[in-house]
Amino acid sequence: MHVVSSVADVRRIRRELAGSWGLVPTMGFLHAGHLALVERAAAENDHVGVSIFVNPTQFGPAEDLTAYPRDIGRDLELLREAGADLVWTPPVDEVYPPGYQTYVAVEEVTKPLEGAARPTHFRGVATVVAKLFNVFQPDRAYFGQKDAQQVVVIRQMARDLDFPIEIVVCPIVREPDGLAMSSRNIYLTPEQRAAAPALYRALCAARDAWRSGEHDAGRLRQIMAGILAAETLAEVEYVSAADPITLVELEDAAAGALLSLAVRIGRARLIDNVLVGW
Ligand code: PAJ
Repeated sequence: MHVVSSVADVRRIRRELAGSWGLVPTMGFLHAGHLALVERAAAENDHVGVSIFVNPTQFGPAEDLTAYPRDIGRDLELLREAGADLVWTPPVDEVYPPGYQTYVAVEEVTKPLEGAARPTHFRGVATVVAKLFNVFQPDRAYFGQKDAQQVVVIRQMARDLDFPIEIVVCPIVREPDGLAMSSRNIYLTPEQRAAAPALYRALCAARDAWRSGEHDAGRLRQIMAGILAAETLAEVEYVSAADPITLVELEDAAAGALLSLAVRIGRARLIDNVLVGW
């Protein structure tokens, strides 16, 4: 497994190893959710590239950029076992050298949900992913459904900018009690951690209601909000039943919906989602 920090080294190794390439972009502090992406990429491609980069442009001024957890030694061990061939761990000024001034702005689908709470977030995500696509030039790129809006944004960007890359989306990997795995779960105290499965409980209750024929999207949002309201440590940012492609809030969810929510528990901001009817 090659571990490199410069763009030039990624390009050189990419050229030297013939065959198909899968790319898994990450911010490190890896867990089973990330590793499932790497394993899927290894199964579907001759070579797997992984980036580990805590991307400053996707963090707002009041967010957790400096506190974001890091453990590069452990990450590299896990990536070796999972079958990565090339890991890029650039310093910030390799990605954004002095004088950097170009950004990718995806418009409509970045406005609601996470985009409303984090106005500059997807500009940073789209910019760094576009750069990763250009540096690695993979055949396929792997993303988790955990970040549902991120998937919508990346698909839109790849289509609009003609990236010749297949975007592959992998299911959410969860803890046994249903909490979606996230690098940010480490911020939870034991008491807060015990409260966190309320997110998935709320989503499952709405999904069950949808399956039993409740297709009024407002009612589905109420069901999620009701379950979260019973959890005193959970502070709800949004509950949503939206169109899975446009992310516009639905009135009628008969054709299916992306059910999603964002909740603060202590200093952690947690997101989760389930798709119904898709
Ligand atoms: P990060 O949060 O490290 O996540 C890297 C990838 O792992 C993303 O595609 C994310 O959706 C996926 N992932 C995280 N938790 C998961 C889980 N429990 N199950 C399945 N997949 C999961 O997302 C980012 O980094 C960044 O925004 C990035 C795309 C790297 C751009 O900086």
